[in-house]
Amino acid sequence: MKSITLIRPDDWHLHVRDGDALKDIIPHTAARFGRAIIMPNLKPPITTTEQAQAYQQRIQAAIPNGVNFTPLMTLYLTDNMRANEIITAKESGIIHAVKYYPAGATTNSDAAVTDLKKTWAVLESLQQQGMPLLVHGEVTTPEIDIFDREAVFIDSVLQPLLKDFPELKVVLEHITTAQAVDFIQSTPNNIAATITPQHLLFNRNDIFKGGIRPHYYCLPVLKREQHREALVKAATSGNPKFFLGTDSAPHSQTAKESACGCAGIYSAHAAIELYAGAFEDNNALDKLEGFASLYGPKYYQLPINVDKITLIKEPWQIPQHYPFGSETLTPLKAGEMVQWKLKRV
Ligand code: DOR
Ligand code: ZN
Repeated sequence: MKSITLIRPDDWHLHVRDGDALKDIIPHTAARFGRAIIMPNLKPPITTTEQAQAYQQRIQAAIPNGVNFTPLMTLYLTDNMRANEIITAKESGIIHAVKYYPAGATTNSDAAVTDLKKTWAVLESLQQQGMPLLVHGEVTTPEIDIFDREAVFIDSVLQPLLKDFPELKVVLEHITTAQAVDFIQSTPNNIAATITPQHLLFNRNDIFKGGIRPHYYCLPVLKREQHREALVKAATSGNPKFFLGTDSAPHSQTAKESACGCAGIYSAHAAIELYAGAFEDNNALDKLEGFASLYGPKYYQLPINVDKITLIKEPWQIPQHYPFGSETLTPLKAGEMVQWKLKRV
């Protein structure tokens, strides 16, 4: 196959940061995707509709002229969020979900939830409004092995939560394990999952190939090959409970290449191209449009995009760096070839 045309895809999990960096980051996503769910883990986090409105305007100012891209905003759940914030959020029309980070789970999660019980009223309101809760599904207890954090979270936090809130819409974000795939498959349609390009393409050996490779470090961390295979199977199965969310998470090169490097992989520069490669490697290019362009809008009850994108089979080399405000960042597969190229219009 020499080219593939898809209904324009959306990214249902994206970090774009703030300030000067926006103008470097937003064009990558806006060239490929029609919409993106914007993560609220800024410092300080986006916890009110008012903050989300201002953040949305800063993002919109970074969209290149003539490009049609809509940032879909989210709020960051805290122990103190009030239930009527959800009503305000829903009425605003710009907030599409609330993000739950267990406190300490990842980048800028210090202000997050210490005990889900403290958020009961908010969860009730979300369930009532039909607004999705987006879940970073990892326990943070130090006794639990880092590679088991997702599976333990599903058993000890998510299953009990869904017993208490059976109608709550929940997206288990960036799933990484066969246990998560099995769990999602066993649940009703209000529960879904996003899958990143890195978790389809790489396993945990890639973090340590010939030395420690910080640009392959994200959370949840890459897992064993058998888990990668389970994720590929899920993404290419045509099951609408699994859809695209890159979790592209830019950090400066210095923040990544450090004695205590930040978690996060930047993939926005070639996101849909990398997914196309993963689907092609598994003879499933015919399943890409559902995963990338149809199932997300269906879950979020939004219309599918009206325009299309075309990818051409034409290898290109990913740059070593991209600008990132006053610094630079190292993208996923820096300096390497990708097989699919976005046709510029
Ligand atoms: O690797 C990650 N990076 N995982 C997350 O959950 C957060 C993200 C970030 O914001 O950098
Ligand atoms: Zn994320």
